[in-house]
Amino acid sequence: MHTSLANKTTLVTGVSSGIGREIAQLLAEQGARVFGTVRDPQSAKPIRGVEIIRLEVTDDSSVNEAVQSIVQKAGPIQCLVNNAGYAAFGALEETSLEEARQQFETNFFGVLRVTNAILPGMRQNGYGRIVNISSVVGFLPAPYMGIYAASKHALDGYTESLDHEVRRFGVRALLVQPAYTKSKITGNTRYSRVALEVYADERKRVNDLVEQSIEQGDDPRIVADAVHHALTATSPRLRYPVGKGITLSRLRRFVPAGMFDKSFRKQFQLD
Ligand SMILES: NC(=O)c1ccc[n+]([C@@H]2O[C@H](COP(=O)([O-])OP(=O)(O)OC[C@H]3O[C@@H](n4cnc5c(N)ncnc54)[C@H](OP(=O)(O)O)[C@@H]3O)[C@@H](O)[C@H]2O)c1
Repeated sequence: MHTSLANKTTLVTGVSSGIGREIAQLLAEQGARVFGTVRDPQSAKPIRGVEIIRLEVTDDSSVNEAVQSIVQKAGPIQCLVNNAGYAAFGALEETSLEEARQQFETNFFGVLRVTNAILPGMRQNGYGRIVNISSVVGFLPAPYMGIYAASKHALDGYTESLDHEVRRFGVRALLVQPAYTKSKITGNTRYSRVALEVYADERKRVNDLVEQSIEQGDDPRIVADAVHHALTATSPRLRYPVGKGITLSRLRRFVPAGMFDKSFRKQFQLD
């Protein structure tokens, strides 16, 4: 059973490219009143039916201003899709604390900041749907993207806990977990400044594998479809693995740990 998105005030973060762009477009097609956020409105390409606003998820005042302006125009936000994020790349030993903090500041604290600005309105309204875009690396390890994986694991624990706290107010918090998906994520990846020679060969192999997998990745439309499902299902699931993520999620749950470890290392060509 599904409800309609018609005229629901909806905020999607990070719609300048990739998955967020596709989500905003689909939700607008489904009749939602969609506000899509970018950091640089001047260079943003328009999306039919989507009102573009400026929002930087790492900045309190930017988030509060954006939320207030939406509420003034369109009333309380009913649906929120926390999509904005980027990937940090580098061996964990090569990653500085500052680089790790920046990764969490966007992928994890960014979600908290936006969610906390919107939750009071959802509670008062007695209704809200929050969909956080996690990743298969929210339940799998990611060598050379360990801090990225840690930020998505944190998002997983946060979302499940939040869902238990806010359900009695008519609000649900849910996760969509894409696998490799075609987007601009490779171009936006931030590489650790320090490069240790001992990791060079393996880091390059993994980097090539990840880049190639994203090039051949899933269509972002299937992620948008999963978000649409999560926002409209009357009894939503907590987690929506998407595309190749569905198989990975099953393997993680049902294959014995030792066997999984072996095949994982083989797939990533780890020495
Ligand atoms: N592509 C994949 O294989 C994949 C797989 C699993 C999960 N994901 C997740 O999907 C989400 C979208 O990624 P994507 O693949 O579509 O990558 P993308 O094409 O690089 O898009 C990322 C979006 O996030 C925005 N963003 C980044 N940092 C921001 C900040 N500090 N404040 C506000 N907006 C910010 C970017 O806006 P600007 O233009 O302003 O930089 C851009 O619109 C991310 O959370 C990512 O972790 C992606």
